Amino acid sequence: MISNETKIELFNTAKEMLKLSYAPYSHFHVGAALLSKDGKIYSGCNIENAAYGPSNCAERTAFFKAVSEGVLQFAGIMIVGGPDSNIKDYCPPCGVCRQVMMEFCNPDEFKIFLAKSENDIIEYTLKELLPQGFGNADLNK
Ligand code: THU
Repeated sequence: MISNETKIELFNTAKEMLKLSYAPYSHFHVGAALLSKDGKIYSGCNIENAAYGPSNCAERTAFFKAVSEGVLQFAGIMIVGGPDSNIKDYCPPCGVCRQVMMEFCNPDEFKIFLAKSENDIIEYTLKELLPQGFGNADLNK
């Protein structure tokens, strides 16, 4: 169970990351705040590239920061974003990021929070956003 206080902390962290978003091509800024099971928050922003393909989403930046520090257990992630950092609507994770979540998270338990403000947060499990997701257990079937 992730408390309301923690959700607001995740929202504030993700929103703060909009300032660090490097998005000179799309001008669509995204911030993420990933909560590990031991209660730490790993922040991330999207990082674009002139060659477009190497661009990285905010969610994957947060995951790769955590995994590169040896953290592999996660409870949830908050995602916010919008054109020029204007949060007008929810910012759902792209398919590639959902697949990265599938690698490290239990799809029945991992929570994905989307927010327009600290008072307007909706939540899904990874399974809801990636039904029948392919994971490491499928390799042994
Ligand atoms: N983007 C993210 O960082 N996360 C998402 O969930 C959706 C899209 C980024 C990628 C690109 O830099 C910009 O938003 C526009 O697609």
